[in-house]
Amino acid sequence: MRVTMIGTGYVGLVSGACFADFGHTVTCVDKDAGKIQRLQKGEIPIFEPGLDELVKDNVEQGRLFFTTDPSAAIRDADAVFIAVGTPSRRGDGHADLSYVYAAAEEIAGLMDGYTVVVTKSTVPVGTGDEVEAIIKKANPSADFAVVSNPEFLREGAAINDFKRPDRVVVGTDDERAREVMRELYRPLFLNETPMIFTARRTSELIKYAANAFLAMKITFINEIADLCEEVGANVQEVAKGIGLDNRIGRKFLNAGPGYGGSCFPKDTLALMKTARDYRAPIELIETTVRVNTARKQKMAQKIIAALDGNVAGKTIAVLGLTFKPNTDDMRDAPALDIVPTLQAEGAKIRAFDPEGMHEAKHMLKDVQFATGPYDCLQNADAVVFITEWDQFRALDLDRIKDALKTPVVVDLRNIYRPEEMRAKGFKYVSVGRAEKD
Ligand code: UDX
Repeated sequence: MRVTMIGTGYVGLVSGACFADFGHTVTCVDKDAGKIQRLQKGEIPIFEPGLDELVKDNVEQGRLFFTTDPSAAIRDADAVFIAVGTPSRRGDGHADLSYVYAAAEEIAGLMDGYTVVVTKSTVPVGTGDEVEAIIKKANPSADFAVVSNPEFLREGAAINDFKRPDRVVVGTDDERAREVMRELYRPLFLNETPMIFTARRTSELIKYAANAFLAMKITFINEIADLCEEVGANVQEVAKGIGLDNRIGRKFLNAGPGYGGSCFPKDTLALMKTARDYRAPIELIETTVRVNTARKQKMAQKIIAALDGNVAGKTIAVLGLTFKPNTDDMRDAPALDIVPTLQAEGAKIRAFDPEGMHEAKHMLKDVQFATGPYDCLQNADAVVFITEWDQFRALDLDRIKDALKTPVVVDLRNIYRPEEMRAKGFKYVSVGRAEKD
């Protein structure tokens, strides 16, 4: 089929490249001419494992195109996806839908023949109705349907998540549109991926409910971790003990410094706002957001406590800055709260991250960036693990001990084992695994 993807950000680029890899002909449209030129040369603007080869292969095989001119792409398309940004205006959780609405206007004027317009971006409940009204008003004779098709891609695993999804959610009551969506995702039927057809608003809410639930699940295990530290229990074993109950499930039970990224923080706030607007507040998510926000400060205090309550004049080596491994994304990363708090207490910060430093340089000040983990922790008074990159998982502990001025390790991702670290003579602090175990 012929697919047009409007927006070549994280969602648009991954979705477009994967649809092309399914065998469809895909044209990705963006207003940013520089970005389009780089994409045409095979330069990928985001760090996503495997995306560069996927784009290159499909461009070479003539299935994937990039353009700034949407006219031909929209005119000839069977389905036009809106995958533009929906940034949250800081604070009130209100998603800025101006790019979505602008795309709807553009599509209205260019579509020819029956066209399925798909909102792939994460949009508040009811946005599909608005997009439909905009198109109808701009082009009363247009023959189209507006469909909600949210994505559930995790950064760093996006291609896998697109090609092997747990489910595909399609929100529309229009039978012709359902048939187009079945055809689009046909390659997934080979492994019986469930395709769920719902009303449009239901589909829009599924996306928010999924992200909010995952954020709540993480925050739950983070609070259990704090209790573990007080009662002398091990949160990883608690997580295993509850996760084997298939009503709970084992994933997203890794205690840490709190969730970040471009989705959970934005989507929890947007859901809270929708719920408030419709006078059905979701207090569990309001509490989740409050607890998660406070957690980052709590982690900074944990680090200060590990250095006997005073970091003034001390050098702290920070390993990992991104909000999670296998991404260069620094949006709402815990490091953005933790580092400034330590600096405010007089600490000097050296940091290393395999992919995030080029972004972090613009978001953190007075940080010395290192060339690698051992360079980072040389002569530091303590080392703090904030992101669990694979390359931090098997560092030479003797080399760390020799390099540190004092053998203090704060492990916010439970990468290492307490008994092993203490046997090596480290003062080792982690999350939810009390000194007592
Ligand atoms: C998330 C959803 O997983 C994805 O389905 C949705 O489409 C977009 O938002 P993403 O934000 O890329 O994906 O990252 P994810 O892997 O979900 O992690 C989100 C945050 O939770 C990260 O800060 C991560 O460190 C944290 N996390 C995750 C934990 O602290 N513990 C866990 O067990 C899992």
